[in-house]
Amino acid sequence: MSLNTIEINRLMDRFDSHASVWLFGYGSLIFKADFPFIERRPASIQGWSRRFWQGSHDHRGTEHAPGRVVTLVPDEGATCHGMAYLVTPEEFAHLDHREKNGYLRLATEIAFEDGSAAEGIVYIATHENAAFLGPASERDIARQIATAQGPSGPNSEYLLALARALRELGKHDEHVHAIERHLAELIGQASP
Ligand code: BEZ
Repeated sequence: MSLNTIEINRLMDRFDSHASVWLFGYGSLIFKADFPFIERRPASIQGWSRRFWQGSHDHRGTEHAPGRVVTLVPDEGATCHGMAYLVTPEEFAHLDHREKNGYLRLATEIAFEDGSAAEGIVYIATHENAAFLGPASERDIARQIATAQGPSGPNSEYLLALARALRELGKHDEHVHAIERHLAELIGQASP
């Protein structure tokens, strides 16, 4: 699959005629909403787990020293907690550009904390994309994150902002928080 997913995502026109669409965020979208939205609500999707398995050559690393950012991997019975944003379909052009390094739009059911649900969109980078790095131990992931940096800033800043945002949502994610603990050890700081 090509590294640049903008053209593929543009073909996903299923919600183009809708006045508004729910977008589920599980990574940087939780702590960095750099787009206008109508409403935002804590939410979850089923059957996926968040993993630092996607390489970042354009935001939190470089071509020769990629960082690691999150994607979702299929995981039967798992619940992934995050933040849902109600946006107009025009916002997807901006998001397609921001997340062009392997992320594809996927339609999904999004559950809200009041028990209601809606169909919406989530961006997922699958193992088929060229920037996918795949599994590694949480300590090795922390080591890679400790040194990587790119145009959007240090990779560690991304990890720490995500870990903090999940705590603020009241959602523990053992993978994310274990990597945060390893990073704290590596840089000689106390874990939050
Ligand atoms: C997110 O935070 O949901 C997200 C992560 C990667 C790409 C696009 C969105």
